[in-house]
Amino acid sequence: MTKLLRNISQLVTPEGPGPKRGAAMGHLRIVKNAAVAIDAGKISWIGPEHEWTGNAEETIDIGNRALIPGLVDPHTHAIWAGDRLADFEARSAGATYEQILAAGGGIWHTIRETAGATSEQMAALALPRIYALLRSGATTIEVKSGYGYTPASELRMLEAIQLLQTQTHAHLIPTLLIHICPKDAVERHEYRETVCRDLIPETSRRGLATAVDIFVEHHSWSAKDARIILTCAQSHGFKIKLHTEQFQRIGGVELGIELKALSIDHLEACTPDQYQSIAASNTIATILPGVSLHLGLPTAPGRALIDAGAAVAIGTDLNPGSSPLFSTAAALGLAVRLTGLTAAEALTASTVNAAAALGLANSGRLEVGQPADMLVLETPDWRDLPYTLGQNMVSEVWIAGQRQPA
Ligand code: NIG
Ligand code: FE
Repeated sequence: MTKLLRNISQLVTPEGPGPKRGAAMGHLRIVKNAAVAIDAGKISWIGPEHEWTGNAEETIDIGNRALIPGLVDPHTHAIWAGDRLADFEARSAGATYEQILAAGGGIWHTIRETAGATSEQMAALALPRIYALLRSGATTIEVKSGYGYTPASELRMLEAIQLLQTQTHAHLIPTLLIHICPKDAVERHEYRETVCRDLIPETSRRGLATAVDIFVEHHSWSAKDARIILTCAQSHGFKIKLHTEQFQRIGGVELGIELKALSIDHLEACTPDQYQSIAASNTIATILPGVSLHLGLPTAPGRALIDAGAAVAIGTDLNPGSSPLFSTAAALGLAVRLTGLTAAEALTASTVNAAAALGLANSGRLEVGQPADMLVLETPDWRDLPYTLGQNMVSEVWIAGQRQPA
């Protein structure tokens, strides 16, 4: 059965598979007065409406509004219990995120709140957050573990993602995050052994994640430990990702490039001498502007990375401590304002490049043969999406050719 969406003011999309790097990030295909045909959940025709000569069983008038690909959110920690309101208050009174973490709060606090929950409880807490991201335009959402800490609890977090997938049509991509580690060297060594001996093999055996991520930072894993954990992950067939250069530069970017990570994420503390090597690699530079806004940190050098020829993606980093940002579209708009991306580059970063950061070749663009994951905006001009603050410009979310309930 063919469904035709007509009276589309502008159809706006990156063209061809990602990742796009450097100047190519700014190139979009724009079809005015467009129509799109959908068959069996996939796009079967795109063009100016007056060129459509086919037959459609169902025709839907989009009402002279813009159509763009469903966004891809390549970095979220959507599952957590408890809150970080006390941290927020302490930070407003002058404490820093790193001080709170070093004193055993922050991420450690969320682990204490989350680790004991059942996977059903975790999923119930996360479902409204997934819906918020979906309503904001994300049709594909990565979700990390990382607040479980013990292998049993990390596995429960990954099971919670499986449960969530039965409750939403958004495509959820699960990542095992090896988040923080004991300060004590002996305990850290033991924990690392447990991760490599039990957690990673069990996650692989049960097919609970597609990638393994690690937090490389002064207050967490060293690049040396990260190499051991990530190499172990690769030997079990996982793609790898790194949280790195959020506060300090301790070798995470170089390790990620060397091990051919899918993505290196954060990069607020990245320095100009690193831009060329990031640009020369196939690793996606994922920037998270919500973190800069919420923590008052310097922003990642999005503009400079693109100018150097890198492939940049944007994520919300939705989490209770560093980025309580429940809108993937808002992350796109913040990247324009805070990191100097153009609107076109930001759309590429939030679609095909974000898909590439998850190892997905078939997401994030409107093209014949691609899944009909797409967004109808509130207005005829797609630039209202990055422009508008504090109001949702996504009017309808379509996944596999089906309009999602509001
Ligand atoms: O991406 N920096 C490490 N992990 C998360 C924050 C997690 C938290 O603060 O709870 C991040 O910023
Ligand atoms: Fe994160």
